[in-house]
Amino acid sequence: MNLDDIQKLKKESFAAVQGANDIQSLEEVRVVFLGRTGGKLTAVLRSLKDVPIEDRKKIGPAANALRNELEELLASKLQQLQSKISARKLDLSMPGKRVVTGHLHPLTLVEKEIREIFTSMNFSVVEGPEVESERYNFDALNIPKDHPARDMWDTFWLRQNELKTKSKKRKGGKKSMPHVADRLLLRTHTSPVQIRYMETHKPPFQIIVPGRVFRYEATDASHETNFHQVEGLMVGEHVTLANFKFVIQEFFRKLFNRNLDIRLRPSYFPFVEPGLEVDIQCVKCGGRGCNVCKDSGWLEVMGAGMVHPRVFASVHYNPRDLQGFAFGLGLERIAMIKYNIPDIRLFYSGDVRFIKQF
Ligand code: DAH
Repeated sequence: MNLDDIQKLKKESFAAVQGANDIQSLEEVRVVFLGRTGGKLTAVLRSLKDVPIEDRKKIGPAANALRNELEELLASKLQQLQSKISARKLDLSMPGKRVVTGHLHPLTLVEKEIREIFTSMNFSVVEGPEVESERYNFDALNIPKDHPARDMWDTFWLRQNELKTKSKKRKGGKKSMPHVADRLLLRTHTSPVQIRYMETHKPPFQIIVPGRVFRYEATDASHETNFHQVEGLMVGEHVTLANFKFVIQEFFRKLFNRNLDIRLRPSYFPFVEPGLEVDIQCVKCGGRGCNVCKDSGWLEVMGAGMVHPRVFASVHYNPRDLQGFAFGLGLERIAMIKYNIPDIRLFYSGDVRFIKQF
């Protein structure tokens, strides 16, 4: 073992590092020269202890220096090979990934728009409870018990066990007729909020009431047990049907961004007199007749009318002093017309492919 051998080993190992083209062959080179057991340089370093002291003084530092140089060389070569790999992995021509943003539900969109249109006409937005009492949902709206009009609203009743009759003592000590406690139900329409609002506010005012309603009904393409309505109520001393027609015409003009003909047809709702059904000119065919309007040229969009004097009386307003109009529209129906949605059940399907379109 002499300095020449070290020199040779240096040349050999440097050439091998140079020749390594990938990380694996570089590691093989490291093992050949610096491996713990079979490494050529490792063997030289180990054998130093057997070399006579004079030679060791020369060979020792040279061998150690070579080890350091070789380790450095291996490290820089490794870095070089690694950066080549990552350069190959970064493909600048690859198309980017689209960032998916959330979507508002079409009902949310339509409700928002309806709120904006009415608030721009100075209406306030009011809400009420979904669990309602029989009095607000029916009686105060001039739909007494046993009135045939109750059949218009198939109802989810709650707490049937509380139906047990209570008997109260009357002043004279005689028992009164047993009476049924005010029963609870899931509101079948947003109209009870009319009563709640009038009980606590003085006219004049104009409000809309968006909200969720419930019907005990079979489900099909245009019926759900759970859907949404927007109620409207304007009360004052000189409110007329002409005011109603203007407000509603303006509403639909803004909602559909164009002038649409409107038609008022006589109809019946116990809480209004006269009662009306509002039709708009078909938004698809413009009135010529198509599958959407079933060839009639008109779309039925809401119930309405002038507030019934009995309704005013039930909130202790004097019907002689006041007049008002009221209306109720189905949010799903409006959204279906606006976005051309064929089936009401799509709103509650939770299908992302549906929501994505809005
Ligand atoms: N509450 C009615 C329903 O659910 C809709 C309605 C009709 C509301 C006429 C009104 C009205 O305020 O005046 O069928």
